[in-house]
Amino acid sequence: MEKKIAIVSGASSGMGAECVRQLAAAYPGLDRIWVIARRKGRLEQLAKEVPVPLKIFEADLSRKKEYAALRRALEEKQPQVRFLVNAAGFGKIGSFEDLDEDDACGMAQLNVTALTRLTHVVLPYMAAGSRIIQFASSAAFLPQPGFAVYAASKSYVLSLSRALGRELAPRGIRVTAVCPGPVKTEFFDIAEQGGNHIPFYKNLVMADPVAVVRKTLRDAEEGRAVSVYSLRMQAFAVAAKVLPHGLFLPLFRPESRKAEAAPEERRTHLLHAGKHVPEAGADGEPKE
Ligand SMILES: NC(=O)c1ccc[n+]([C@@H]2O[C@H](COP(=O)([O-])OP(=O)(O)OC[C@H]3O[C@@H](n4cnc5c(N)ncnc54)[C@H](OP(=O)(O)O)[C@@H]3O)[C@@H](O)[C@H]2O)c1
Repeated sequence: MEKKIAIVSGASSGMGAECVRQLAAAYPGLDRIWVIARRKGRLEQLAKEVPVPLKIFEADLSRKKEYAALRRALEEKQPQVRFLVNAAGFGKIGSFEDLDEDDACGMAQLNVTALTRLTHVVLPYMAAGSRIIQFASSAAFLPQPGFAVYAASKSYVLSLSRALGRELAPRGIRVTAVCPGPVKTEFFDIAEQGGNHIPFYKNLVMADPVAVVRKTLRDAEEGRAVSVYSLRMQAFAVAAKVLPHGLFLPLFRPESRKAEAAPEERRTHLLHAGKHVPEAGADGEPKE
């Protein structure tokens, strides 16, 4: 029997996995938690840890066809989804032009399209009292040179969540956008893969994922539209709302290695990308 369930994406690590642990502990009335990620082994390990049975979906959520098993299971079981947690997401640090094309588009596919698709697929199975928890980020508050696609994708999540919350209020479904600052998870292992590192100060203010998720679930329970962990990040959210964004933008490091590269190195890069580039003279200007 799996009448009352929670569905959690990004459940194989970090805050998604922690949501599963805390939901299982705080809501023993859940018959099952459906968990989604690509690393099945991690999900199987999590299933051994928690007191509520898990149903495992091994899926790359950035591919539409990988939702088939989930759609089938929803149609077949007709569950009441009490919680939908969209935690799957990733970011890669680096200037836009340094980013690998697939990484840049992949962030939009997972953070924006997959979150939208999963919410759309699951919503018909939610009713009054259900909660949707969307992991945005404090990066949603401002454009971020050097992390531009990620910040833009999270602005989308925040905007969508707030509007969706208004649309669903008459049905008694609450939507919470979660906007933490840096949190100590595997997120930064992936974010720094391109060789660009987060600013040093962010390492000093890393939040504990257990505490962030505790606040997230409390805020979702209370029906808050936005959950921001820590006074520091709450102050940042207010500052980003009241001050012109132009004041903040020069503070970010754009991290553009290609823009700073020597003219000949830059020309080689563009030629590799299949573009015609005139040879550079000694002054760095094109010879033609
Ligand atoms: N950590 C931070 O500082 C921070 C701050 C603010 C917001 N956030 C946001 O919070 C959410 C959770 O992040 P986290 O810190 O817990 O990161 P994390 O530990 O790296 O977890 C990311 C999760 O997303 C899943 N995922 C990645 N690509 C996927 C794909 N194509 N299909 C399905 N699942 C995929 C991963 O599972 P598999 O690899 O097994 O697929 C993993 O379970 C993300 O949306 C992130 O953007 C993080």
